[in-house]
Amino acid sequence: MSAGLLLPYRHRWPQVAPSAFVAAGSTVIGDVVLGEQSSIWFNCVLRGDVNYIRMGARSNVQDGTIIHTATADGPTLIGDDVVVGHMCLLHACILEDACMIGMGATVMDFAVVESGAWVAAGALVTPGKRVKSGEMWMGRPAKAVRMVSNAECETITTIARRYANRAGEYRASSGPPQRASAATTPGRRRPARPRSA
Ligand SMILES: CC(C)(COP(=O)(O)OP(=O)(O)OC[C@H]1O[C@@H](n2cnc3c(N)ncnc32)[C@H](O)[C@@H]1OP(=O)(O)O)[C@@H](O)C(=O)NCCC(=O)NCCS
Repeated sequence: MSAGLLLPYRHRWPQVAPSAFVAAGSTVIGDVVLGEQSSIWFNCVLRGDVNYIRMGARSNVQDGTIIHTATADGPTLIGDDVVVGHMCLLHACILEDACMIGMGATVMDFAVVESGAWVAAGALVTPGKRVKSGEMWMGRPAKAVRMVSNAECETITTIARRYANRAGEYRASSGPPQRASAATTPGRRRPARPRSA
């Protein structure tokens, strides 16, 4: 099995912890730091160009998720033990430790999901909203509907732990992510071929 791809932006390469996993088909670009045992599953894009992306230890970003940033004060910051479900969209937002972003959810610019909060599957967290610790938000636009149960709270850490372990297995067979070769690096050109007479 092969691993995902790292690309530089303006000569800055992603920094991936030795125990992190980036799956095949995923591309991580520019100013991105991935913590120990974190994992990026198949076909994700993390684009740290106009601002930076930081992800802590044991957090997982599941298949088909897109993460980008905004130019002015708009990094995307993800804490430790965060679960980001399949096909999410995270844009210039902050996810604190051990929160859940359900599959297919969108979190927009300057929104904050506090530690232990839960964004339900398919929810749309609109710009600047704060999903407070322990709250469950659902819908489009998302609103607080109830508190997260103890069982759901435990689910977040259980899933984070499982994904961290699974990432180790996958990484053992795929190896570290691949750095793009000079020929495929944006901004670099192959020398022009001499023209035939
Ligand atoms: C929110 C969630 C936990 C379900 O919560 P729940 O309270 O057990 O849901 P229920 O099945 O009891 O439904 C309760 C109500 O919420 C609604 N509801 C449930 N999930 C919903 C969702 N994701 N979005 C909008 N409404 C939802 C139901 O329609 C129901 O509405 P009603 O009261 O009008 O009948 C679940 O939908 C979810 O989002 N899980 C995330 C899982 C995930 O994505 N994991 C990542 C991969 S590991």
